[in-house]
Amino acid sequence: MKQKLVVAITGASGVIYGIRLLKAILNMPISVYLMISAAGRQVLTHETGYDGADIKEFLHLQGVVFHKDARLNSYAPDDLFAPPASGSFRHDGMVIAPCSMKTLGAIVSGISDNLIHRAADVCLKEKRPLILITRETPLSAIHLKNMYDAALAGITVMPPCPGFYSHPKNINELTDFFVGRVLDQLNIEHNLLKRWGDYDCVC
Ligand SMILES: Cc1cc2nc3c(=O)[nH]c(=O)nc-3n(C[C@H](O)[C@H](O)[C@H](O)COP(=O)(O)O)c2cc1C
Repeated sequence: MKQKLVVAITGASGVIYGIRLLKAILNMPISVYLMISAAGRQVLTHETGYDGADIKEFLHLQGVVFHKDARLNSYAPDDLFAPPASGSFRHDGMVIAPCSMKTLGAIVSGISDNLIHRAADVCLKEKRPLILITRETPLSAIHLKNMYDAALAGITVMPPCPGFYSHPKNINELTDFFVGRVLDQLNIEHNLLKRWGDYDCVC
């Protein structure tokens, strides 16, 4: 059966992580269910120049090449009738990239007042993979406690901390390395990163 992934972009800095994730998975025969929060759209505009037009068009401009069997389904964040709002809709996991501290707090508190929070809540109750690319710095005690609670609830918390042992030459390589590690968590094959052990030793 074709893989289905739920992806959300919220209003934390680092929307490039969400875009590079979409670039990677839409190049595969995967159906993507995308939600962008209101703040996420604003940060997307600020950080990438997104003009609010059709998101598929925007992704094309960002260099996303769609696999012939890839599908992009986009939902408004207040659309609680969308498929990811229900546990009866089966999928292979959800990634929130980036995930704001507000969305993190809502998820660990069980507050489901928009589609993104609800879809995450559904992942937890249905025991499906949920990955949060939490972004803030520095982190307050509340942020850290929420991340700890998230980990206890079975959520994979992945603050975007790229490794530099891959010697990235630019932001895209740095971001792709991290996105590759996200795909590893979902058991999706990719070639976004060179793995430790594949490097020539320079010692
Ligand atoms: C340019 C910009 C950058 C922001 N960066 C962050 C951030 O890195 N982390 C964070 O938690 N909030 C950040 N915020 C604040 C969130 O956008 C704000 O808390 C918002 O209510 C989050 O809503 P959402 O989770 O529904 O997207 C940023 C806001 C702006 C305008």
